[in-house]
Amino acid sequence: MADNDSIQAGKTFGIGIPQKTEGFFLKGSSQLDWGIKNRLSQIFCVKSGRSVMLAFDHGYIMGPTSGLERMDLTIVPLIEHADCIMCTRGAIRSIVPPESKKPLSLRYSSGTTILTELNDECVIDIDDAIRLNASLLAVMVAIGDPKHEAVTIRNLAKTVDLGMRYSIPTMGVTAVGKELVRDARYLGMASRVCAENGAHVIKTYYCNENFAQVVNAVPVPIVIAGGKKLPEKEALEMAYRAINDGAAGVDMGRNIFQAENPVAMIKAVREVVHNNAKPEQAFKLYEELKRI
Ligand code: 5RP
Repeated sequence: MADNDSIQAGKTFGIGIPQKTEGFFLKGSSQLDWGIKNRLSQIFCVKSGRSVMLAFDHGYIMGPTSGLERMDLTIVPLIEHADCIMCTRGAIRSIVPPESKKPLSLRYSSGTTILTELNDECVIDIDDAIRLNASLLAVMVAIGDPKHEAVTIRNLAKTVDLGMRYSIPTMGVTAVGKELVRDARYLGMASRVCAENGAHVIKTYYCNENFAQVVNAVPVPIVIAGGKKLPEKEALEMAYRAINDGAAGVDMGRNIFQAENPVAMIKAVREVVHNNAKPEQAFKLYEELKRI
């Protein structure tokens, strides 16, 4: 209990030294609440301003896809090399060691699988995200899908509202409708719509032409999905071009866990994302690490 007799008057007020008013290292995020910034700082490296997120949420629409049949064997050894893990609540509770210090990007929307039609989604309960100590809520948004655009935008809006209540940021994940091409015009529009609806981070696909326009027209950080498995060198080239065009990192799945050597691959991706390694250097590193 505080003792009234020993209260000492304050002496060191730093008169003449103005208190620093710092900005924030992430694009478009300086006016957010402390809790959201704190969570974003766990996901994005303060030094590089970027993140290597490891995505292994594919099972929720695809079942046991290649590389994810036994996540305890294939994914758990990769976790220590990621800045953030992106997965479902089922995966986190069943295979991710609770001692893990990695921030969680929780797959917060859930819905129909590849066996019916994609994109008919709902969102899970914010209480469960809090129980799981989620640092980011990932919600799929199907811009341009005539049947599901509205429901997925509502999901995003609801997630942002609930996330803001508890200072958990939201990541808008752009889906691609069957009729739509993954070009800069479409990806730029889908990403911008997510940001305007309050998403704090955007996950979208890379496109070979004018990706810098996508990045520049979106006022918050963008990370790219890896997409279908490519030869390792091409995946590293894609990551390099995306970073060069201004992406704040990757949220990569198949191009890591389906690589011939997944640990070597995630380490090579890190070199590109955090240390601006050229694709040739990163591929050389991959080849060297593969032999160890
Ligand atoms: C599906 C997703 C996946 O997590 C995403 O596609 C990332 O994985 P990959 O790099 O394999 O594309 O968000 O909606």
